[in-house]
Amino acid sequence: MNYQPFIGKTAIVTGSANGIGFAIAKHLLHEGANVIVNDIDPEAAEAATEKINKSCEYCDAKAYAYAGDAGDPAFIKEMVGYAASIKDSKLDMIVANAGLTEFGDFFEFSPESFQKVVDLNLRGSFFLAQTAAKVMKEQGGGGNIVLIGSNVGARAYKNLAAYGMSKAGISMLAKQLVLPLGPLDISINCVAPGATLTERTQQEEPDYAGIWAQLNPNGRVGKPEDIAHTVGFMLSPQSRHITGQTLLVDGGWTAYGPSPFTAERLRNELPNGAEAPKVSVLKK
Ligand SMILES: NC(=O)c1ccc[n+]([C@@H]2O[C@H](COP(=O)([O-])OP(=O)(O)OC[C@H]3O[C@@H](n4cnc5c(N)ncnc54)[C@H](O)[C@@H]3O)[C@@H](O)[C@H]2O)c1
Repeated sequence: MNYQPFIGKTAIVTGSANGIGFAIAKHLLHEGANVIVNDIDPEAAEAATEKINKSCEYCDAKAYAYAGDAGDPAFIKEMVGYAASIKDSKLDMIVANAGLTEFGDFFEFSPESFQKVVDLNLRGSFFLAQTAAKVMKEQGGGGNIVLIGSNVGARAYKNLAAYGMSKAGISMLAKQLVLPLGPLDISINCVAPGATLTERTQQEEPDYAGIWAQLNPNGRVGKPEDIAHTVGFMLSPQSRHITGQTLLVDGGWTAYGPSPFTAERLRNELPNGAEAPKVSVLKK
């Protein structure tokens, strides 16, 4: 059995029926936590919870499905109340993972799409942190909150203006909240994934892993487990003095900008004899 730092603690992971959230929920259960598996899709939440529990039959802790919209403050209140009611377990860990990636040309982007991004990414993260911190305060203080940001909150990316803005806002929220939460011994940080291979990203681009292995300086695409292990550390006693930070988990992607080296690398990938395009990528 692994070292289990989270025995006697409960975690909420929003949007955890698939992708990064699923890997985080599974990891936290294996490390000893009771985990609330939240998702907007009730069937997916149940199926994921069953799968997570089956993966750890030796665990004393359990995963519990709790379906609903992680962007809705009224639902968040119910979910936090449910998590706090789990017997012999303290609500100690929150992962605001559910997030909407809405691609769209800046000039065409609609108010409806903008609102959807803001409702989940910003309103959901803000009110989950607020509601859970109130409960942690009532419990006598102590707790850990991780907000999931993005590499696109740190670098411009085509057709992701609203999303990038929301993720940069999430990083700032982690900074702001050190003031109200620090005195309560609640840590608040943002873990910002880079391109990560999930069911969704694989569907968007069949060669997602191959493309990102070329673009990332470390030559690989991110896996959900890379993010889950980082989140586990940020929630653990080992990171108790880290708060208000954003940690990018992106294979080095945000650490560099396009350079002659990038152009040369892309040119080398062209089939034999093919001419490199003369038009700037920015003009496409
Ligand atoms: N995958 C990546 O490459 C990547 C990169 C950077 C940041 N991120 C961020 O990581 C987080 C997880 O990304 P992912 O790609 O694993 O997610 P995803 O898009 O695959 O969604 C995961 C789950 O969230 C659920 N969900 C959607 N709306 C919800 C809502 N309103 N309430 C509750 N659940 C909801 C979905 O049903 C799904 O099961 C997001 O915040 C995303 O912005 C992802």
